[in-house]
Amino acid sequence: MDKAGRNGLYTTRQRNIDIPQGGHMSQVHILVGAQWGDEGKGKWVDILSAQKDIVARFQGGNNAGHTLYVNGEKIVLNQLPSGIFQDQKVSALLSGVVVNPVQLALEIDSVADKVSLDENNLWISEKAHVITPYHIYLDQKNESQSATPIGTTKRGIGPTYSNKIDRTGIRMISYIDDEHRREWLAHLLESSPEFKRSYEENKQPWEEFDQAAKKLKPFVCAAEQRVRNELKKDKSLMLEGAQGTLLDISHGTYPFVTSSSTISGGAISSLGMDPRKITKIYGIAKAYVTRVGEGPFPTELKDEVGRRLGEKGHEFGANTKRPRRCGWFDAVAMKYAAEVNGFDVVLLNKMDILSGFEELKIATAYKHKKLGILDEFPSDVRILAECEPIYESLPGFMEEIPETGTFKDLPKNAQAYCKRIEELCGIKIGMVGTGPRRNDFISCD
Ligand code: GDP
Ligand code: IMO
Ligand code: MG
Repeated sequence: MDKAGRNGLYTTRQRNIDIPQGGHMSQVHILVGAQWGDEGKGKWVDILSAQKDIVARFQGGNNAGHTLYVNGEKIVLNQLPSGIFQDQKVSALLSGVVVNPVQLALEIDSVADKVSLDENNLWISEKAHVITPYHIYLDQKNESQSATPIGTTKRGIGPTYSNKIDRTGIRMISYIDDEHRREWLAHLLESSPEFKRSYEENKQPWEEFDQAAKKLKPFVCAAEQRVRNELKKDKSLMLEGAQGTLLDISHGTYPFVTSSSTISGGAISSLGMDPRKITKIYGIAKAYVTRVGEGPFPTELKDEVGRRLGEKGHEFGANTKRPRRCGWFDAVAMKYAAEVNGFDVVLLNKMDILSGFEELKIATAYKHKKLGILDEFPSDVRILAECEPIYESLPGFMEEIPETGTFKDLPKNAQAYCKRIEELCGIKIGMVGTGPRRNDFISCD
């Protein structure tokens, strides 16, 4: 039984998942990353969406790289929701998403041999903002000229959200309308010399940008209203987050964050819905921590142990291929993420990677030279950067983790590790990830 006392069981085509669900009422689930992204959200959305009617991405763009395995084949999705390969699903991109139309059109083509997408099963919000070649140009320029780069994916994400907020962006509804798109372009060419220069220096991406509008037009619709209408008919929904809690624009390690609301609240605002209809919130965490890009990371290991974690865990960006920084599990950050999101259940991923480490460490608090002991996650990145983790040491396990089974099948020390994380963070671990494939998990109930 989870904290919220919600009941019910369901079965996936792959394996039984003994996770309490939303009972007989319509299931509206949110799944978000609990750390700095790449926690394995794609795999879990794929698994859990076997029982959902609609799977919707609610924020981010093609900065995301969500990895899943379909019939043994590795697939990385950037913009399409990770439920796309489950049968008879509607996939949606909601208002909080930013769309790179050229890349999305290519992504639709790239999955065409597995799933045929049409206006009935792919709904792209007419309110979603569009990433243009100029936004990508700006992201690259800002990063290369900044004395303190963020280490973005250079996909134009920040500038696109900036223009959404300053009310000069272009939304899908205007983008697919040839006349409106041309007016928007003409206005920018006239009003911004920098835009004009970048446009004239490199026209090719703009030609592709124009062409993709035709391709995406059939999918663009009032996606949020359609989803809400389906909920009225008791259909079930999975709202899939990208990035992670600590990359949230408000609650993350600002300015070393992405530009959207990555937390569970962001899902509600992106869809526009009665928050009381949410029946479950999943947090996805790795059994250790990784981070790509710049910014403070208290438990980062710059030593042999960190190198081993990265090597064993294949910690390279699914999207940009950059090596991910690796470190021990951070219970301070996890407790914070659980509070910010209201997790009903946490799925602890990549436990298999910890096998073979003699000692495991968990940060239980931070020590700061001026502020003393901190047991809450600080808001100021300068303070976070000066924090030393206070570790609790636990014995590791040498046994390989079984791919499937129940909690008691985990090595004793792995069980103790999970239990300690639950205690320290005030969370319930519902499943443990044991490998990258659909069936690689252990149920904890
Ligand atoms: P996402 O962005 O949160 O969807 O995560 P990514 O796909 O960027 O990174 C997660 C990586 O871990 C991918 O390569 C997955 O195939 C892999 N993965 C997911 N779950 C597990 C697990 O339980 N064990 C192992 N060894 N790999 C996993
Ligand atoms: P998924 O969904 C990990 C990081 C970048 C950078 C910061 C800002 O696969 O977990 P941006 O391009 O968004 O302006 O970059 O955010 N970042 C991610 N890190 N996983 C991701 O997505 C990320 N998307 C962005 O590395 O530090
Ligand atoms: Mg990823």
